[in-house]
Amino acid sequence: MNTSIPLALVAMSLSAAAIPAAAQQIVIHTSGTDLVLHVAPNHRLYQVYLGAPMACMSDYEQLPWDVYAASDGSVCQRGWEAYGTAGSEEFYEPALGVIQADGNRTTYLYYQRHEQHAIPGGTETTVELADDQYPVAVTLHYVAYDKESVIKAWSEIHHTGNLVKTGTAVQKKLAKQPITLTRYASAMLYFKRPNYYLTEFHSDWAKEAQMCSQELQEGKKVLDTKLGTRQNMHMQPMFELGLGQPVQEQQGEVLMGTLGWTGNWQFTFEVDNVHNLRVLPSINPWASDYELKAGETFRTPEFIFTLSQQGTSLGSRRLHDWARQYQLKDGMKGRMSLLNNWENTYFDFDQTKLADLMKEARTLGVDLFLLDDGWFGNGDHARNGDHAGLGDWEVNHQKLPGGIAALCDAADAAGVKFGIWIEPEMVNPASDLYEQHPDWVIEQPNRQTYYYRNQLVLDLSNPKVQDHVYGVVANILRENPRVKYFKWDCNSPITNVYSPASGSKQGQMYIDHVRGLYRVLERIQADFPEATMMLCSGGGGRGDYEALKYFTEFWCSDDTDPIERLYIQWGFSQFFPAKAMCAHVTDWNRQASVKFRTDVASMCKLGFDIGLRHLSDDEIHYLQSAIANWHRLQPVILDGEQYRLVSPYEGNHMAVGYVSQDRQHAVLFAYDIDTRYKEVLQNVCLVGLDPEGQYRVEEINLMPGKESHLQGNGGTFSGDYLMKVGLPAFTQERMHSRVIELTRE
Ligand code: GLA
Repeated sequence: MNTSIPLALVAMSLSAAAIPAAAQQIVIHTSGTDLVLHVAPNHRLYQVYLGAPMACMSDYEQLPWDVYAASDGSVCQRGWEAYGTAGSEEFYEPALGVIQADGNRTTYLYYQRHEQHAIPGGTETTVELADDQYPVAVTLHYVAYDKESVIKAWSEIHHTGNLVKTGTAVQKKLAKQPITLTRYASAMLYFKRPNYYLTEFHSDWAKEAQMCSQELQEGKKVLDTKLGTRQNMHMQPMFELGLGQPVQEQQGEVLMGTLGWTGNWQFTFEVDNVHNLRVLPSINPWASDYELKAGETFRTPEFIFTLSQQGTSLGSRRLHDWARQYQLKDGMKGRMSLLNNWENTYFDFDQTKLADLMKEARTLGVDLFLLDDGWFGNGDHARNGDHAGLGDWEVNHQKLPGGIAALCDAADAAGVKFGIWIEPEMVNPASDLYEQHPDWVIEQPNRQTYYYRNQLVLDLSNPKVQDHVYGVVANILRENPRVKYFKWDCNSPITNVYSPASGSKQGQMYIDHVRGLYRVLERIQADFPEATMMLCSGGGGRGDYEALKYFTEFWCSDDTDPIERLYIQWGFSQFFPAKAMCAHVTDWNRQASVKFRTDVASMCKLGFDIGLRHLSDDEIHYLQSAIANWHRLQPVILDGEQYRLVSPYEGNHMAVGYVSQDRQHAVLFAYDIDTRYKEVLQNVCLVGLDPEGQYRVEEINLMPGKESHLQGNGGTFSGDYLMKVGLPAFTQERMHSRVIELTRE
């Protein structure tokens, strides 16, 4: 479909110009959702429907667009303008705010044309809008993935430098002057429901993705971050919105949304005077007025959403499927298990110690050994703690005289791959880099500096800094192509907010910083497409779907206490597939058995951060078989459909099931967190199996010499039985776990 209204129409008397019928309605369609936009007689664009898809073509025509379009004011209902602007009859939070060159703060957008074309997996719709008095145009983008029913929406705000109608010489001159953007939402969505319930994912270090819900009342609820980097430390950029009822796992209408932006973000939910709700996902405009020169375009980040009619369970599976196929780096490839040395050694290691750990990695049967922080910096700037060395990415000659090459040799000898930790966007003041380039750092020239973890953030809006950050990865890979994995960390938010490179445009710093980061990541991707990288940020301070175009996985939390992990992983799993979520077995909470800790990590991308010295032979044998099982079951756990079955938020237990895409194979993870005296245990009913299939049930990941006490173990049951009657997978033991494999016969 490619229709257009001549620009001239906009300039004509709006009521006089009729809209061609084909241009009036724009349907953004997926198998599970329709978003319908309508060009009203006033030439402005309105949302007239967002919900389950229409069954008949004729139904679209019957949508009462006039209810949603702004009228002459004789009705109290304002319009649901698809991209509401400041200064019109719009009394609530707008999507777009512009200070025009003459100081006017209004923008009115009129439909120009739209286009729809096929893209892999779906359809992209673009709708062009333009102001009739000022040189501002907006292109709305909607990419709709049909099967997965996920929609990505973003906008491009153009300073065209031209007027759509003939202007006076003064107006034409003014049209060439810069304008300032004060609001720039990615999209705007409206709902009309009796009530709205918002689930947010608040966070802190070692307490990421904690879910809590509230009913939205009239007025605004804003979720946001102003941290600049490590931006999700206190709130994750995702939300669930129960429409007409609280958010539920298996039923009810729910909007699940997330923003792909590795910087300050904001979600605004506003219930207006007639109880309509608007949702505005955006870069956080706080302290970020953005100047646009004539000819420039401001591209907003992608807002990624799905509207499920069957609760978050379906919504999450759609997002997982979509992410693996279209967004996550190497989303359709396997993942490497690993052994990390961080909690084993911290900064205290040398080549021999690391070589020994590599042998332990081999004993365990993991794919890769990951060397963490502390391998770089020399002299006074040796990285023997977190006070010095960040920025000096040369190997520490004292600890590692043979350099990275010798470590790669040791890894080769042990039969594992080698990976390395970096934190390339940061600098310790105690570093050669800081001494040489103090102007590369975000820091106030005239105030006392505040250090977060003794470090500062490099100014990525500066192209020279971008080269430096790119060089950290490029130099390592060029000198040592055997390095197969990076853990890319980011431990500090932006403090002492002043960018030397941004000069008088300090309002642009937060945004240009993120764009600078993306430029670096794009270069790395282009030059080293095989580079596999984990995104880390002092735990889980930085997972978002734009960053995950460049990273294969992210570190969910430094908190690896398995009990806490059940909640953290439950939270992140709402939006991210298991293969993107790193879960390591460590010594946090030694009261929990090695088996329990490993079974918790095995439901995601498995890794280890323990030494074998303190483990018994039985524990080592258990680990070897559990790791082998995890490798064998990757197609089910990492690529299958995930079903969250029993929530840790609702009791003493948790269960998650994975079913392979062909429904031949499934894995059930069941955990007992705590128990009550005489607690009545419920069976765990599986979901997603073929009801007609016969599945053999076998408990795996057993400690050597231990037999399964699972009732029904070794038996064969129909999928229907397993989904209706279920398995008695829970027990009365504290911190007990079961991993149950189901194989179709
Ligand atoms: C952060 C990470 C940890 C570890 C340390 C190293 O805190 O989250 O996993 O890499 O940095 O300093």
